[in-house]
Amino acid sequence: MATIIPTPAGQELLSVRALTKSYAGADGDLPVLAGIDLDIREGEIVALLGKSGSGKSTLLRCLAGLIPPSSGTATYRGRPLTGANPGTAMVFQTFALLPWLTVQQNVEVGLEARGMSATARREAALKAIDLIGLDGFESAYPKELSGGMRQRVGFARALVVEPDVLLMDEPFSALDVLTAENLRGELLELWASGEFPTHAIVVVTHNIEEAVLMADRVIVLGSRPCGTIRASYDISLDRPRDRGAAEFGKLIDAIYRTMTGRPADSPQPLPGLPAEPARGRRTPANTPLPAASVDGLSGLAEILQRHDGRLDLAELTDELGLEVDDLLPLIDALELLGFAQVEGAQVGLTGQGRAFSEADVQTSKQIFADAAVEVPLIRFITTSLENSADGGLRGGFFRDVLAHHYTSEQVTQQLEVATGWGRYAELYSYDANHEEYLLDPARAAKRLPGPGTSWTGGF
Ligand SMILES: Nc1ncnc2c1ncn2[C@@H]1O[C@H](COP(=O)(O)OP(=O)(O)O)[C@@H](O)[C@H]1O
Ligand SMILES: [Mg+2]
Repeated sequence: MATIIPTPAGQELLSVRALTKSYAGADGDLPVLAGIDLDIREGEIVALLGKSGSGKSTLLRCLAGLIPPSSGTATYRGRPLTGANPGTAMVFQTFALLPWLTVQQNVEVGLEARGMSATARREAALKAIDLIGLDGFESAYPKELSGGMRQRVGFARALVVEPDVLLMDEPFSALDVLTAENLRGELLELWASGEFPTHAIVVVTHNIEEAVLMADRVIVLGSRPCGTIRASYDISLDRPRDRGAAEFGKLIDAIYRTMTGRPADSPQPLPGLPAEPARGRRTPANTPLPAASVDGLSGLAEILQRHDGRLDLAELTDELGLEVDDLLPLIDALELLGFAQVEGAQVGLTGQGRAFSEADVQTSKQIFADAAVEVPLIRFITTSLENSADGGLRGGFFRDVLAHHYTSEQVTQQLEVATGWGRYAELYSYDANHEEYLLDPARAAKRLPGPGTSWTGGF
């Protein structure tokens, strides 16, 4: 039997306890994160992994002290944060460089606030520029640089302050695959070399492979009903890590299952929040529409169909070069429509799903319409329009109703998806000029005249 040698746990640098974060909605606060307990210790790279909207960036901003938690605590070396965390620096996905400043000046920006002399600033900046492979570019302006070089400036600017903990929010997502690979590799080499001027790294990503390549610990955030820690994986694979290794593949698979499956031991619903709704009791409030277009979900159904209706999630992302973040909303959509089922890491078409993807366009549209009208928000919009005097209702009406359950960003997204699905199903259309939803004429002709139509689309 292998002996397990306990490694001494590094000192806790960042800690959050019972952290909750809500954003304001019309009807009070809407929780985005709840019940988060997390420590970031000296010497480790931690990846925060989750679908888009699961609250990763929100958690990172809380660690950086850029936003306060709604309840619970965030501390740096044991001291509660009262503003920007002095021990962290952030690298953003979109680089966030000042276009009118040179590389050197961009890197120095963060130092001025710390009251360093011009000479000391210059020296520190040159050191960071050198470290991150930007020497020779000191006097260049951001617009002269490639995406990869710009992100190097982003790194240099964060590293120049020698933060205890480097925070990175999807730092490689905006780069092409090769550039991302190269930069990620260099960063890991630097970290391994001990030259890195920080004591821990927290990286936000929606890419499972990236998380497993980089992290000593992968924290999976789930978003049902709101962002909680769904699982935590310790990754002890040797570095640099080999994607082809069996252990690597096993981990990817296990994390896939956590992110996509509905494991039996899924966490208890939080106090005050609804449990996963039973199928009969779904409402627009507890059953959000996934961010999936009809084209996207039809495409996925077709791909599944070509593979005898069933595929492993890892195969899907591998073969199609799709990222999990692109894929999961499509799978959720197929599930919500009753076209697919997820079991473990396998996704399979249902009978309806097969019919939907095999049929000719008109039949397929009809199958989609029949399924879509059972989806709570689509049903709500359709029945509301059927019950309105002239088959039309202002978009603002739906916005207001949804605002009681979603943040305004989420409302916009929900209505965008509902508009696309409703249009394709020929249930209703949306007139953007007049910001008005209109019942489809064919459907309007069929509806029962006068009051007394049954109201089935309530929250
Ligand atoms: N400033 C904000 N105001 C209102 N809602 C927000 C704000 N920032 C994020 N949200 C919402 O909170 C949820 C989590 O967002 P975010 O932390 O950005 O997730 P992630 O980084 O995992 O994609 C999303 O539904 C998003 O719409
Ligand atoms: Mg984010």
